[in-house]
Amino acid sequence: MKVDVLLGLQWGDEGKGKVVDVLTPGYKNIVRFQGGPNAGHTLEFNKIKHVLHSIPSGIFHTDKVNIIGNGMVIDPILLKSEIKELEALGVNVKTQLLISDKVNLILPTHRLLDAAYEAKKGKNKIGSTLKGIGPVYTDKVARCGLRAGDLLSDSYEEKYENIIAHHTILLEAYKGEKYSDEDEAEWNDAIDYLRKLNIINTEYYINQALDKNQTVLAEGAQGTMLDIDYGSYPFVTSSNTVCAAVSNGMGIAPAKMGEVYGIFKAYCTRVGGGPFPTELNDEDGQKLRDEGNEYGATTGRPRRCGWLDMVALKYSIMLNGVTQLIMTKVDVLNHFNEINVATAYRSKNGETNEIPYDLETIDPVYKSIKGWNQPLDNVNTKEALPQALKDYIQWIEDETGVPVTMISVGPDRKQIIMMR
Ligand code: GDP
Ligand code: IMO
Ligand code: MG
Repeated sequence: MKVDVLLGLQWGDEGKGKVVDVLTPGYKNIVRFQGGPNAGHTLEFNKIKHVLHSIPSGIFHTDKVNIIGNGMVIDPILLKSEIKELEALGVNVKTQLLISDKVNLILPTHRLLDAAYEAKKGKNKIGSTLKGIGPVYTDKVARCGLRAGDLLSDSYEEKYENIIAHHTILLEAYKGEKYSDEDEAEWNDAIDYLRKLNIINTEYYINQALDKNQTVLAEGAQGTMLDIDYGSYPFVTSSNTVCAAVSNGMGIAPAKMGEVYGIFKAYCTRVGGGPFPTELNDEDGQKLRDEGNEYGATTGRPRRCGWLDMVALKYSIMLNGVTQLIMTKVDVLNHFNEINVATAYRSKNGETNEIPYDLETIDPVYKSIKGWNQPLDNVNTKEALPQALKDYIQWIEDETGVPVTMISVGPDRKQIIMMR
């Protein structure tokens, strides 16, 4: 058995949480492999709307195993409150959740450092979610991080004291907020709680599950254009978000990857700073924000909106080896006479179909596409889709060479149309 992978092809918030929830009945194990509580994955069903940050989006289905893989970073304080919220809804999280012993922990001081570093950047702020993601991945690579397995070891106190001493020096230098006694008490409560959860070697668990022919779905966070290597650096997150990260982030061999579901919105959004070639600062941009309710699931910030960018989409498909495309938020375009799509970029060196080193210096070249201009509320099959939408999907398939196998036409679990 191989691991299927689902990931975002744009700047995050493509609707990954919703689609993982839709696909979960077909899988036994759902694994997050990178990122942390900077993610906000929204699920809607039975009129409940729920946002997950660190827990995989399979958690609402019983008899599934949800795994926090070693490539993630978790904040014990936020994880505890996320679990408590789910328990209040009747979800039995503790028996359904496994946590890698190698996952790096976000300390309150990582969050304070994130804020201090952003403040120092002045007008070039990354627009981080301020969850401590950059500082915790920095410590992981610098080999001074604290991991979940350390909570169960006799050397925990010494490692904790060392990292706090290191952070205190940095916070003083960057004029950050002090780590208070209240912060420390909250941390101690949270790690006592975390110690009682299932902290195990998840790479053995996942590989043994595959050997037993169990199905596994890897759930990406953020999106390819926020990848630390391939995204619009430095306006990116601090992890690799591409398919290759699945192997490192959960401990499976590259040859064990199966289907790669690439999720993209029928238009584009971005939250935070950095280049965004197809951004619209006009009525159409506002209409996309209003129709798509484009406000951040983690921070509530208004998302920047723009037209679909085929140059970026094709780059993401190439980097990830996408085998199936899933287009979301199609309904948001229901009331446009005309839809634009960027098919190339123009720079002082001429036109290109490739992502340049510096995304700031280009202008998009648009193709105009006829809108379907009608609601999709009563459409449940691909045959019943308006012809203009069928043509739009066919054009995307022709351009990318990848089939669009599902489209999402609303936030609810049921609002999905199978195309194959
Ligand atoms: P994720 O981070 O990729 O899981 O996406 P988010 O949850 O941050 O953002 C997607 C938003 O769009 C959420 O509010 C979803 O409820 C909503 N959503 C998902 N799919 C659709 C869709 O097809 N149509 C509409 N209108 N909303 C959707
Ligand atoms: P999901 O999984 C959208 C963005 C932030 C910021 C940059 C760096 O919900 O799609 P960080 O907190 O990682 O230091 O922020 O990345 N960002 C996201 N944007 N969706 C996300 O996750 C994001 N996670 C981080 O806005 O621009
Ligand atoms: Mg999100």
